[in-house]
Amino acid sequence: MPKEVLLLYSSQARYRVPREILFWLTVACTLTLVALTITGDRAVAAVPELVAGLSGVPDLPPVLQGLGWRWSRGILKGIQEKLDHFEYLNIKSIWISPFYRSPMKDFGYDVEDFRDIDPLFGTMEDFEELLAEMHSKGLKLIMDFIPNHTSDRHRWFNLSRTRDPHYEDYYVWTDCNASAPKPNNWVSVFGNSSWTYDEVRGQCYLHQFLKEQPDLNFRNEHVRKEMIDIIHFWLKKGVDGFRMDAVKHILEAAHLRDEPQVDPNKPPESITTEWDLYHDYTTSQLGLHDLLRGWRAEMDSYSREPGRYRFMVTESYDYHEVDKTMMYYGTPLVKESDFPFNFYLLDLPHNTSGLWVKHLVHLWMGNMPRGQWANWVVGNHDRPRIASSAGQTYIRVINMLLLTLPGTPTTYYGEEIGMENINVTDSQIQDPAGKYNASASRDPERSPMQWSNDMNAGFNNKTNTTWLPVHPDYRTINVQKQDEDSVLSQYRSLSKLRQSHLPLHRGWFCYVHADASVFAYLRELDGLNQAFLIVLNFGKESVATDLSSIRELPDQLEVLMSTNQDNRGKVLQKSRILTGAGEGLVFEYYTHTRFNPNHPTQCYISEKACYLRVMDILYTC
Ligand code: GLC
Repeated sequence: MPKEVLLLYSSQARYRVPREILFWLTVACTLTLVALTITGDRAVAAVPELVAGLSGVPDLPPVLQGLGWRWSRGILKGIQEKLDHFEYLNIKSIWISPFYRSPMKDFGYDVEDFRDIDPLFGTMEDFEELLAEMHSKGLKLIMDFIPNHTSDRHRWFNLSRTRDPHYEDYYVWTDCNASAPKPNNWVSVFGNSSWTYDEVRGQCYLHQFLKEQPDLNFRNEHVRKEMIDIIHFWLKKGVDGFRMDAVKHILEAAHLRDEPQVDPNKPPESITTEWDLYHDYTTSQLGLHDLLRGWRAEMDSYSREPGRYRFMVTESYDYHEVDKTMMYYGTPLVKESDFPFNFYLLDLPHNTSGLWVKHLVHLWMGNMPRGQWANWVVGNHDRPRIASSAGQTYIRVINMLLLTLPGTPTTYYGEEIGMENINVTDSQIQDPAGKYNASASRDPERSPMQWSNDMNAGFNNKTNTTWLPVHPDYRTINVQKQDEDSVLSQYRSLSKLRQSHLPLHRGWFCYVHADASVFAYLRELDGLNQAFLIVLNFGKESVATDLSSIRELPDQLEVLMSTNQDNRGKVLQKSRILTGAGEGLVFEYYTHTRFNPNHPTQCYISEKACYLRVMDILYTC
């Protein structure tokens, strides 16, 4: 076609317009591709559903711990039958206390075989079925891993006490006198000397817990290798992570010197409890973190598959030695646990006040290394139930705190319905710690989960017995009997709220107020107008809180959620926010003025993230 004719046609609108559209589309696509390439590695996640956690940590909201799930058909099957409960509560991960083969001297924390399931819990097939079903429902299974000790019935211990050359040093042995077996003053966590004389070998072995739980010798390379093999065994089966038990006890000083006494004037023979000594030689020894980091690296090799992140949480009670606790996060270059358990809120009942709760929260937030992810625990199988120690009045406000703080909330089974401790008579004591000292018994918090008001709260309706008594309040406090205003419904609403609003699980956390009653904070996210104010009354009376000095808050605020149903939907002046004793309020509000830029010392965020509305992404900013 001659050039003139071509030019004639190409300048006509029907040819020119599509050509120009195509041209600008190509330009726009190229620019978008360039922008995505530049920001791609900074995009945290697409929203709203696809929220991955920090540094690949799955957002683990919330973890629910199950022990005491005694069930007539085996505990693993029992859990499988109850998976709907977790889905209903929007719980994503379940940590199941140890189910390895065990003589149950310490209820599974005394492992006889790390690769087998105790018949009390079921079979390996039951486990595999449970795991498969959990995965099909998008739930993650976290196992207990108990590296410090085995049961004295473990094959390794038998071979060690008979001095099999390979196993001879698998445990911590030392010479001692058969009639007074105390090579040094070290004491067990459960009381009395941590040494027991073994007649077969004619030496003493160390046990930082029960005498039926001999401590492994991690200075032996074969022990280290065995433990790694066990980690691989379960990761290959598909478990999603481990709760590493009693980690600070893993190594002891090889010199076996006496530990310093807390009260130097106490006669040495009266040193019988863990509180009598400074544990300079039996806890947190050099080399501990190298071991944990090694395990982490093994786990990471299984995390590469998309969506198959393997998670690690460490258990170590370091009380107020917060620096020791934070070391379990690892360093910016070498990763360790995703988080060490944060036990500070277990102290909440010591003083229910806004200032105290803020102090406990700040112990974590003020000390957590930059870029790390927080977590919160208000109860577990080793500590009294929070609804009993703080009082039923506070269970709702405590759950509200747990589910609106930044980081992963952990719920011990039963907290979601407000279960309380049981009374255990001397003849009913099961816990070895309780047999040594009744006041240290952990049985009260281990009673069966209260599912319904059927016999035994829904447990063992065939045999009429449960391993510990069911709490007598099970007729009124149980999962089945839940109305709109129940502790359970409130838990569920909070969990859903947390999941569906970015500021609540990924945003800034800013203190705005604390006094003898009230603790109040904001959750906001850069780039998003929506924000939340949380006002929690831990005091003994109703109070009016004046937040008029917080300029970033609107003058009027509407109650989105209250632990007191009657107050939902109320509109309050920010100068007079009324809360009753044990009441918690969540306000949702919209603003263009963010609080965090003007108050950097009051605000925390794990990883700074911004929301970009046009692309519906959250990116590191
Ligand atoms: C952990 C467990 C506890 C157990 C102890 C010994 O602290 O939580 O229940 O008794 O380790 O294994």
